[in-house]
Amino acid sequence: MADFLRTLKDARITEGVMKSGTPEELARGEQLYREHACQNCHWTPAENRRGYTGGTSSTSFVNMGNRLQADWVYRFNLNPNDFVPESGAYIPNPSLPDEDIYAITAYMMTFTQP
Ligand code: HEC
Repeated sequence: MADFLRTLKDARITEGVMKSGTPEELARGEQLYREHACQNCHWTPAENRRGYTGGTSSTSFVNMGNRLQADWVYRFNLNPNDFVPESGAYIPNPSLPDEDIYAITAYMMTFTQP
Protein backbone atom coordinates (compact mmCIF):
# COMPACT_ATOMS: atom_id res chain seq x y z
CA MET A 1 0.00 0.00 0.00
CA ALA A 2 2.75 2.44 0.86
CA ASP A 3 4.41 2.19 -2.56
CA PHE A 4 1.12 2.81 -4.23
CA LEU A 5 0.46 5.82 -2.07
CA ARG A 6 3.84 7.30 -2.64
CA THR A 7 3.38 7.49 -6.38
CA LEU A 8 -0.30 8.24 -6.35
CA LYS A 9 -1.33 11.47 -8.00
CA ASP A 10 -4.46 12.41 -6.22
CA ALA A 11 -6.63 15.45 -6.77
CA ARG A 12 -7.29 15.67 -3.04
CA ILE A 13 -3.67 16.45 -2.41
CA THR A 14 -2.33 19.94 -2.71
CA GLU A 15 1.31 19.66 -3.58
CA GLY A 16 3.70 21.82 -1.67
CA VAL A 17 1.48 22.57 1.35
CA MET A 18 3.88 20.98 3.78
CA LYS A 19 7.11 22.71 4.63
CA SER A 20 9.54 21.50 7.25
CA GLY A 21 8.18 22.69 10.56
CA THR A 22 9.55 25.47 12.68
CA PRO A 23 10.94 24.40 16.07
CA GLU A 24 7.67 25.58 17.68
CA GLU A 25 5.56 23.56 15.24
CA LEU A 26 7.68 20.47 15.77
CA ALA A 27 7.42 20.75 19.55
CA ARG A 28 3.66 21.20 19.31
CA GLY A 29 3.44 18.28 16.90
CA GLU A 30 5.35 16.02 19.24
CA GLN A 31 3.06 16.92 22.12
CA LEU A 32 -0.08 16.29 20.04
CA TYR A 33 1.30 13.02 18.72
CA ARG A 34 1.78 11.79 22.28
CA GLU A 35 -1.57 13.10 23.50
CA HIS A 36 -3.37 11.29 20.70
CA ALA A 37 -1.40 8.11 21.32
CA CYS A 38 -0.44 7.66 17.68
CA GLN A 39 2.41 5.47 18.92
CA ASN A 40 -0.10 2.96 20.32
CA CYS A 41 -0.74 1.68 16.82
CA HIS A 42 2.28 2.88 14.87
CA TRP A 43 5.90 2.11 15.61
CA THR A 44 7.54 5.38 16.44
CA PRO A 45 11.28 6.08 16.63
CA ALA A 46 12.63 6.24 20.16
CA GLU A 47 16.01 6.47 21.77
CA ASN A 48 16.02 3.04 23.31
CA ARG A 49 17.75 -0.20 22.51
CA ARG A 50 15.25 -1.26 19.87
CA GLY A 51 15.21 2.15 18.27
CA TYR A 52 11.43 2.41 18.30
CA THR A 53 8.48 2.30 20.63
CA GLY A 54 4.82 1.49 20.34
CA GLY A 55 2.40 -0.98 18.91
CA THR A 56 2.23 -2.82 15.64
CA SER A 57 -1.46 -2.84 14.86
CA SER A 58 -0.73 -0.52 11.96
CA THR A 59 2.03 0.71 9.73
CA SER A 60 5.43 1.61 11.09
CA PHE A 61 6.38 5.27 11.12
CA VAL A 62 10.01 4.56 11.89
CA ASN A 63 11.18 5.77 8.51
CA MET A 64 8.19 7.89 7.70
CA GLY A 65 10.12 10.90 6.49
CA ASN A 66 11.81 8.91 3.74
CA ARG A 67 8.93 6.63 2.94
CA LEU A 68 5.98 8.94 2.48
CA GLN A 69 5.40 12.30 0.94
CA ALA A 70 4.65 15.10 3.41
CA ASP A 71 1.75 16.58 1.45
CA TRP A 72 0.10 13.20 1.31
CA VAL A 73 0.51 12.57 5.04
CA TYR A 74 -0.97 15.97 5.82
CA ARG A 75 -4.01 15.31 3.66
CA PHE A 76 -4.41 11.83 5.12
CA ASN A 77 -4.26 13.14 8.67
CA LEU A 78 -6.91 15.76 7.91
CA ASN A 79 -9.39 13.02 7.14
CA PRO A 80 -8.12 9.45 7.15
CA ASN A 81 -11.49 8.04 6.16
CA ASP A 82 -11.21 9.62 2.73
CA PHE A 83 -8.39 7.23 2.02
CA VAL A 84 -9.23 3.92 3.63
CA PRO A 85 -12.99 3.69 3.38
CA GLU A 86 -14.51 0.57 4.86
CA SER A 87 -11.14 -1.06 5.28
CA GLY A 88 -12.39 -2.32 8.60
CA ALA A 89 -9.37 -0.79 10.22
CA TYR A 90 -10.02 1.55 13.07
CA ILE A 91 -8.31 4.82 12.26
CA PRO A 92 -8.87 7.63 14.68
CA ASN A 93 -9.87 10.84 13.03
CA PRO A 94 -8.43 13.47 15.31
CA SER A 95 -10.76 16.44 15.22
CA LEU A 96 -8.05 18.99 15.44
CA PRO A 97 -7.64 22.35 13.79
CA ASP A 98 -5.69 22.23 10.54
CA GLU A 99 -2.68 23.89 12.12
CA ASP A 100 -2.45 21.12 14.70
CA ILE A 101 -2.66 18.49 11.97
CA TYR A 102 0.05 20.42 10.20
CA ALA A 103 2.22 20.34 13.33
CA ILE A 104 1.72 16.59 13.82
CA THR A 105 2.58 15.97 10.19
CA ALA A 106 5.70 18.14 10.32
CA TYR A 107 6.77 16.25 13.42
CA MET A 108 6.16 12.85 11.81
CA MET A 109 8.20 13.80 8.77
CA THR A 110 11.24 14.15 11.01
CA PHE A 111 11.15 10.36 11.51
CA THR A 112 13.96 9.19 9.30
CA GLN A 113 16.47 6.41 9.38
CA PRO A 114 19.86 6.62 7.75
C1 HEC B 1 -6.17 2.58 17.06
C2 HEC B 1 -4.98 2.42 16.24
C3 HEC B 1 -4.42 3.69 15.56
C4 HEC B 1 -4.03 4.85 16.18
C5 HEC B 1 -4.08 5.23 17.67
C6 HEC B 1 -3.51 5.70 15.12
N1 HEC B 1 -3.59 5.05 13.92
FE1 HEC B 1 -2.89 5.73 12.12
N2 HEC B 1 -3.51 4.04 11.20
C7 HEC B 1 -4.18 3.01 11.82
C8 HEC B 1 -4.56 2.03 10.81
C9 HEC B 1 -5.30 0.72 11.09
C10 HEC B 1 -4.08 2.53 9.57
C11 HEC B 1 -4.24 1.91 8.18
C12 HEC B 1 -3.00 1.17 7.82
C13 HEC B 1 -3.07 0.50 6.50
O1 HEC B 1 -3.88 0.91 5.67
O2 HEC B 1 -2.30 -0.43 6.28
C14 HEC B 1 -3.41 3.79 9.86
C15 HEC B 1 -2.76 4.54 8.91
C16 HEC B 1 -2.18 5.77 9.16
C17 HEC B 1 -1.46 6.54 8.18
C18 HEC B 1 -1.16 6.11 6.76
C19 HEC B 1 0.29 5.68 6.75
C20 HEC B 1 0.62 4.45 6.00
O3 HEC B 1 1.78 4.06 6.10
O4 HEC B 1 -0.25 3.87 5.35
C21 HEC B 1 -1.09 7.71 8.78
C22 HEC B 1 -0.31 8.86 8.17
C23 HEC B 1 -1.59 7.65 10.15
N3 HEC B 1 -2.23 6.45 10.35
C24 HEC B 1 -1.41 8.65 11.08
C25 HEC B 1 -1.79 8.56 12.42
C26 HEC B 1 -1.64 9.64 13.37
C27 HEC B 1 -1.05 11.01 13.06
C28 HEC B 1 -2.10 9.17 14.56
C29 HEC B 1 -2.25 9.96 15.86
C30 HEC B 1 -3.11 11.17 15.77
C31 HEC B 1 -2.54 7.80 14.34
N4 HEC B 1 -2.34 7.46 13.04
C32 HEC B 1 -3.05 6.98 15.33
C33 HEC B 1 -4.43 2.88 13.17
C34 HEC B 1 -4.16 3.83 14.14
